[in-house]
Amino acid sequence: MKFFIDTANLDQIKEAQDMGILDGVTTNPSLMAKEGITGKDNILKHYLDICEAVEGDVSAEVIAVDFEGMVKEGEELAALHPQIVVKVPMIREGVKAIRYFSSKNIKTNCTLVFSSGQALLAAKAGATYVSPFIGRLDDIGFDGMELIEEIRLIYDNYAFETEILAASVRHTRHLIACAQLGADVMTGPLSAISGLLNHPLTDKGLAQFLADHKKGN
Ligand code: E4P
Repeated sequence: MKFFIDTANLDQIKEAQDMGILDGVTTNPSLMAKEGITGKDNILKHYLDICEAVEGDVSAEVIAVDFEGMVKEGEELAALHPQIVVKVPMIREGVKAIRYFSSKNIKTNCTLVFSSGQALLAAKAGATYVSPFIGRLDDIGFDGMELIEEIRLIYDNYAFETEILAASVRHTRHLIACAQLGADVMTGPLSAISGLLNHPLTDKGLAQFLADHKKGN
């Protein structure tokens, strides 16, 4: 399973990279705005900074919602750095754009996916990644994990190569459930990844080992 961090914050990206387990980064317009990154030049420069801080794929989202606009923006983003993956929303024009990018060997991440039918369309169009938003489904009383399970079944039935990128992961239990269900990738906050480290028996056991070592020396 690949671990992506879902942030545009360079310090957090560097911290995750430093752990040695990071496989990539996802961003979205809200995350870029949260870091105060505005204006085209600053946004492109920030994507470059992220690519330099991490080894692996970096999703950069198009703002246009028409086919021509998405193609123009996506080609510009893809030309920026080989690690860039063009993030495209799951709308009719987005599906067309994903098909176009796929024919040009430009990697894509189909975002804002909330149903298995949408995920099927993304795979048919040749998306590199599909991003089902599990946390946002949970927020409105649906079961995000059921969606991961459905997509896994459909993709396996037809051997689709599109990778399931479980997005909107909010905490460590989400991450573990995604791993159990066979999501190829997860993206979430650093806290969801760091939470995997924690177990009271590890802390207790280590304290005991160190104390016993001290006694014997
Ligand atoms: C995915 O690519 C999105 O950026 C993200 O996971 C959305 O998460 P949120 O629902 O916590 O905003």
